[in-house]
Amino acid sequence: MKNILVTGAAGFIGSAFARYMVNTYPHYNIIVFDKLTYAGNLNNLTPIDDEPNYRFVRGDIADRDAVRRTLAEYQIDTVVNFAAESHVDRSILQPDAFIHTDVVGVYIMLDESKKHGVGRFLQVSTDEVYGDVESGYSVETDTFLPNSPYAASKAGGELMVRAYHVTHGMDTVITRGSNTFGPYQYPEKLLPLFITEALDDKPLPLYGDGLQVRDWLYVEDHVTGVDAVLHRGESGEAYNVAGENELHNIDVVKQMLALVGKPESLIKHVPDREGHDRRYAMNCDKLRAIGWERRYNFPDALAETVRWYHDNEWWWREIKTGDYLDYFKQQYAARLSADAD
Ligand code: NAD
Ligand code: DAU
Repeated sequence: MKNILVTGAAGFIGSAFARYMVNTYPHYNIIVFDKLTYAGNLNNLTPIDDEPNYRFVRGDIADRDAVRRTLAEYQIDTVVNFAAESHVDRSILQPDAFIHTDVVGVYIMLDESKKHGVGRFLQVSTDEVYGDVESGYSVETDTFLPNSPYAASKAGGELMVRAYHVTHGMDTVITRGSNTFGPYQYPEKLLPLFITEALDDKPLPLYGDGLQVRDWLYVEDHVTGVDAVLHRGESGEAYNVAGENELHNIDVVKQMLALVGKPESLIKHVPDREGHDRRYAMNCDKLRAIGWERRYNFPDALAETVRWYHDNEWWWREIKTGDYLDYFKQQYAARLSADAD
């Protein structure tokens, strides 16, 4: 392993992974390949701009020629695919881009990687492929029951990874992460949206009763989970990367408000997300067995996250303009003026 292509690394988790890899493994070359969609942001990579083992290439993972050229030019031997459309609400409003990137893009990456002779191919996936988990914990061999267009597109991409392993003998591994939070997360997801809105004393649109359960994982722990699987995962296997930290949405929001120093009266129950999964929860013994352990606890990581958004208004105020405001209006205007279901 020497020249690693990290796709989608101008986004939230991918950029944390790129920053971590560049600093942790100075003998690897980290080549970031990203389309720079609305969610991609070169500011996320500024901390490593001057590092000699980092390069950025703008490109679409579904563009076969661009992928082929990049694999050849940088003599890529390893691929870590973070690139995706990642927001459930957007997949409900407009799923086309999800099929393009999360299904077709994964296929193009696999196919060109096979032709180029890439060694290891790591696909970053999600706990959402398991669907709603009423009780117990998902294990890696569970059936896929995705419920949103986002989750279905991620499941489709994953199944293609499996097919390239079984059919063509490619060295593939998969990670399935739980709800990730931390600095540099695009302010459309629950925590960065609510923290930045709360800082401006705006109402916080909590879907339905707010009793949905998510398993919260700090981004730095997600990144080390991906690293563990990249280096020590068994070929053809998938690994859950869990926070083992289940919380009701409303409790996450209340903890966040206490840290921001704003009143709970900002919470506004709004009509629910369509097809909203009640609970995700995974067992991650398999990842632990290859030597991974979490380093962050939720209260400290949440406090650090709140501090980061408080101190880095320059980062999120620039995002919350233009097209972002159109999306916000489309997603929330009617909800915020309606009574909850
Ligand atoms: P993000 O939306 O913040 O970033 C996605 C990145 O992919 C952006 O930089 C975007 O420009 C890029 N991208 C999108 N389409 C592309 C294309 N066609 N070609 C090249 N680049 C493209 O996403 P994130 O939250 O950092 O998630 C990263 C990965 O982790 C995704 O695969 C997601 O499914 C998975 N995941 C996310 C979470 C979470 O809680 N955020 C949890 C588990 C798994
Ligand atoms: O579980 C892993 C997944 O976590 C990742 O695969 C996805 O990429 C990531 O977006 C995330 O999906 P969720 O749908 O769980 O995350 P989101 O931040 O959108 O929502 C978290 C919970 O908060 C969910 O139950 C919906 C609720 N929510 C969200 C928003 C944006 C609200 O109540 N109001 C909101 O405005």
